[in-house]
Amino acid sequence: MLNNLAQQPADALLALIKLFDADPRADKIDLGVGVYRTADGGTPVFACIKAAEQKLVDEQPTKAYLGPEGDMGFVHALMPHIFGGTDPSLGGRIDGMQTPGGTGAVRLAIALAHKAGVARVLMGVPSWPNHAQIMADCGVELVAFDHAAPDGSANLAALRDALRAAGPSDAVLLHGCCHNPTGVDYTPAQWDEIVDLLAETGVLPIVDLAYQGLGAGMDEDAYGARAVVARLPQALIAYSCDKNFGLYRDRVGALYVHMPDAGQTQRALSNAHALARANWSMPPDHGAAAVRLALTDPALTQSWQDELTSMRARINQVRQKLAASSNAGAVNLTPLGRQQGMFAMLPLNKDQIQALRDDHGIYMAGSGRINIAGLTMGNIDTFVRALAAVSR
Ligand code: LMR
Repeated sequence: MLNNLAQQPADALLALIKLFDADPRADKIDLGVGVYRTADGGTPVFACIKAAEQKLVDEQPTKAYLGPEGDMGFVHALMPHIFGGTDPSLGGRIDGMQTPGGTGAVRLAIALAHKAGVARVLMGVPSWPNHAQIMADCGVELVAFDHAAPDGSANLAALRDALRAAGPSDAVLLHGCCHNPTGVDYTPAQWDEIVDLLAETGVLPIVDLAYQGLGAGMDEDAYGARAVVARLPQALIAYSCDKNFGLYRDRVGALYVHMPDAGQTQRALSNAHALARANWSMPPDHGAAAVRLALTDPALTQSWQDELTSMRARINQVRQKLAASSNAGAVNLTPLGRQQGMFAMLPLNKDQIQALRDDHGIYMAGSGRINIAGLTMGNIDTFVRALAAVSR
């Protein structure tokens, strides 16, 4: 029976990790998978996480099972950072559960919406390739619209049209900040308009917030998620700690459910628990426990905020330097200075992307997405020259 299965290609983004590692060139540049890098090209463990992990080793009393909801201390410790305000749960209307990474949170959000009767999910494209794969796997129809306009800003007209053609049995997946792959985010005024449209149409928002703190700031990056829960009756927020706590392989995420009252929130969550139980039973504990310890110790929380601030500053410094180059051959880099987060899309074709890899040791996704954090003050000029050479 299993010989009926056709060979599947490796995930193109993840395959880049191995291709890059196998390249012997010392001056190679990795702009592939979305991992933050310091000015030295490293991805160190956050100091607050190292300290929290040490505490876990010294003090964790047991590794006995928790339950499908995971570590609720972690889930609740994150909430003031995500939702802000004096009562981040809005009187119990928002609650959540731990998931295996942001991917687990998105998967659970889509599966929960589907279980509630959602058959179509609107999404601006291009998007993170796994979004479409998750939707296909969950059996929901993806209704695509253009996310970005040619000038490198958000294509609000396309989003308006998509929402006006949809209704209460549809959902829309929105990137909370640091849009992956374009870097094109909504302004606060645009979020306000989007929330108005969601209120009019009844479309369910699913906000994927995977890069909080890596765009304009913790509060600024949560503007959309906060506007959605402040003004709409229902929403799902999929959260990732993979990037903003550097916990990539530990798989740390959470799904938050927002409903008109606390009872409905818990009822919806009971369905998410059942879905999780049938999928992964319960999420891995270690990374989430470390985040909980970091967020319940003021000194470690401060250290986390400081580290995030310097990461954000570095990403924005690279963006400004790229933007200052204006044109690299046929590629206009100016819009990158107005965009946010780790990613940007370059208008390169397959041959140009292959030439960058073969002739210059520069690795990027086949879509033309680059990970801005893969660049340093020391290699930007090399990158811009290579870009000019392949796109002339
Ligand atoms: C990326 O987009 O590169 C990251 O989110 C890693 C992943 O899981 O694809």
